[in-house]
Amino acid sequence: MSKRIPVIAANWKMYKTKDEALAFIFAVNEKVPTRDKVESVVCAPAILLNLLVKREGDNLRIGAQNMHYAEEGAFTGENSPAQVKTSGAEYILIGHSERRSYFNETDETVNLKMHAAFKHELTPILCVGEQLAERESNSTKAVLDSQLEIAFKGISAEQALATIIAYEPVWAIGTGKTATPTMANDTIKDIRAKVEALYGKAVADGIRILYGGSVKPDNIKVLLAESDIDGALIGGAALDPNNFLVFTDAALNK
Ligand code: 13P
Repeated sequence: MSKRIPVIAANWKMYKTKDEALAFIFAVNEKVPTRDKVESVVCAPAILLNLLVKREGDNLRIGAQNMHYAEEGAFTGENSPAQVKTSGAEYILIGHSERRSYFNETDETVNLKMHAAFKHELTPILCVGEQLAERESNSTKAVLDSQLEIAFKGISAEQALATIIAYEPVWAIGTGKTATPTMANDTIKDIRAKVEALYGKAVADGIRILYGGSVKPDNIKVLLAESDIDGALIGGAALDPNNFLVFTDAALNK
């Protein structure tokens, strides 16, 4: 099996002013592991992207949290894929559960954004995950299979391999409830099996799949110790630069 480089991605959501964002970047810039060992990514609010890209060090990478799928147009308040790309960001979160819940993101718009990301050479971090009621009614696998099938429609095997998937059970986001490492790993294995069904074993073996949802400095190691968890997408706890370095260090030892 090919060695998968771990990914630690912070999702800042709607946190941090310009000064707070710069303070974070300066605190972690020289300390994150080299890119060949860990991909360290900060997904920041769009208005800060250009500023952060100019200040990022050699090993830190910057991502956006959302974009429109259209090339351009009369969409007040939105950012186009080309605008994200020319800001210097390299990654794009697609289909985060907060965008699905609050901003009408659907599996279909997720798919359009996947295509837009590859057209503009952005690396998608595709977020999938089930609601609590879906987990409790044993429909997690069906929900994830459907999210993945639609997200990857028309996406080539090469593009699929370049995608990073983030499995974020909705009930674990910002709630302090983490999926147990075994539960997260089992679900991520199911996701990998679905990728294999869609694209074959080489893509399934190579694609990075992250866990997200109440990841903290005290649970990162046990999560990363699992066979199929290739990193983490972290909200609240990754706002603190010291925590971010705990996460990247843990990934270095995976
Ligand atoms: P928390 O780490 O704050 O639970 O957020 C997870 C998340 O939504 C990352 O995208």
